[in-house]
Amino acid sequence: MNAIIQRLGRRLRLGVVGGGPGSFIGPVHRTAARRDARFEVVAGVLSSDPERSRAAGQAIGLAADRAYGDWRELLAVERVRDDGIDAVAVMTPNAGHYPVADAALDAGFDVICDKPLTTTLADALKLVDKVRSSGLVFCLTHNYSAYPMVRQARAMVKAGELGEIRQVQLEYIQGHLARRVEDEATGPGWRFDAELGGGSLVLGDIGTHAHHLGAFVTGLDVVQVMADVGSNLPGRRVDDYAALLLRFANGARGSMWVTNAAAGAEHGLAFRAFGDQGGLEWHQEQPNHLLHRRLGDFPRLMTRRLDGLMGAEAEHASRVGIGHPEGYQEAFATLYADAADAIAARLTGQPCDPLALDFPTALDGAKGIKLIDAALESRRTGTWADCRLEV
Ligand SMILES: NC(=O)c1ccc[n+]([C@@H]2O[C@H](COP(=O)([O-])OP(=O)(O)OC[C@H]3O[C@@H](n4cnc5c(N)ncnc54)[C@H](O)[C@@H]3O)[C@@H](O)[C@H]2O)c1
Repeated sequence: MNAIIQRLGRRLRLGVVGGGPGSFIGPVHRTAARRDARFEVVAGVLSSDPERSRAAGQAIGLAADRAYGDWRELLAVERVRDDGIDAVAVMTPNAGHYPVADAALDAGFDVICDKPLTTTLADALKLVDKVRSSGLVFCLTHNYSAYPMVRQARAMVKAGELGEIRQVQLEYIQGHLARRVEDEATGPGWRFDAELGGGSLVLGDIGTHAHHLGAFVTGLDVVQVMADVGSNLPGRRVDDYAALLLRFANGARGSMWVTNAAAGAEHGLAFRAFGDQGGLEWHQEQPNHLLHRRLGDFPRLMTRRLDGLMGAEAEHASRVGIGHPEGYQEAFATLYADAADAIAARLTGQPCDPLALDFPTALDGAKGIKLIDAALESRRTGTWADCRLEV
């Protein structure tokens, strides 16, 4: 029996906001929530249009009275139902994250929210405060942090296997904006509207992922940034390219290259981190491999496996045995499983598996928003900008 049912006597009940027809991430969230049988999706608002929302909710199998037309209605009704939801998952366009998450916390629900946390730093800091004062669980779906070999890398850095971290290189190279999609019949979409998407398309969409990955693996915050941010395509009004020089809290240096406009590129998220004793390199498109370079020794290519050779942190995030690939969808599911464990611990007062507590938080999300602000400040001033977050 899974640990949540054992402790609660039932699965956790989830309400989803966003992720209607045509959305990429909606089905990913719902599949992830169900993957380890810890959540059931019982309520939802799948569109900003009430009629479409109710129809889309029923189309994914929600009962008619729980396929709501508006998220305020969902929160108001679910908080007083005997069988009401335990948690809310937010996967709307970026500008929806703050109002929905904020109201969900006010209604006493734990929250799972997609990135970027918010579209402004002020809202991000308010959420950090509210999560702290409420004691509720808040999981931000920087899903790449839950790949087994990423957890392995973090554990190796923490154990000192690389020595003192000196250099970090991060990249996320995509190609879906390499042509002017904004001129096509479907129109530019919310990502091209700063009110809905935030101040920088590329930094909000994938820069926050790369930044979080770097901090997660190294355990180090970025404290200063020097940025070249802009567009590759003539006439484009949003950022599709950012090259950032980074300084980390321990004095390590680094860089981050993120773009959605590299023709032919797919989902090229990668990191390299070097300490004074060796380095690690990981590529999302080959997620089961982690390259470990060692000072004075041959490099070794580590492969995800479930036979005791990986650390407990990586085994915790892994499901199938040697040679069977695991990737994006499973990592997403690991965040849901871990959030479920933390929520069940809160509800029952019983401690959860400490390995389940390594999911990204509202504070991690606020650091990502601060990085965006600092990069845009650096673009304006042409100098280094501070991105320390005092909270
Ligand atoms: N973690 C990841 O890997 C990842 C990947 C892609 C997108 N995302 C994030 O997920 C979010 C959504 O991205 P997407 O690509 O699915 O966008 P999308 O435009 O494809 O889908 C957004 C969906 O939200 C619905 N929606 C809009 N306003 C709503 C409201 N007020 N109430 C309920 N539903 C509403 C729309 O009807 C649509 O179905 C963004 O914040 C994005 O940054 C995360």
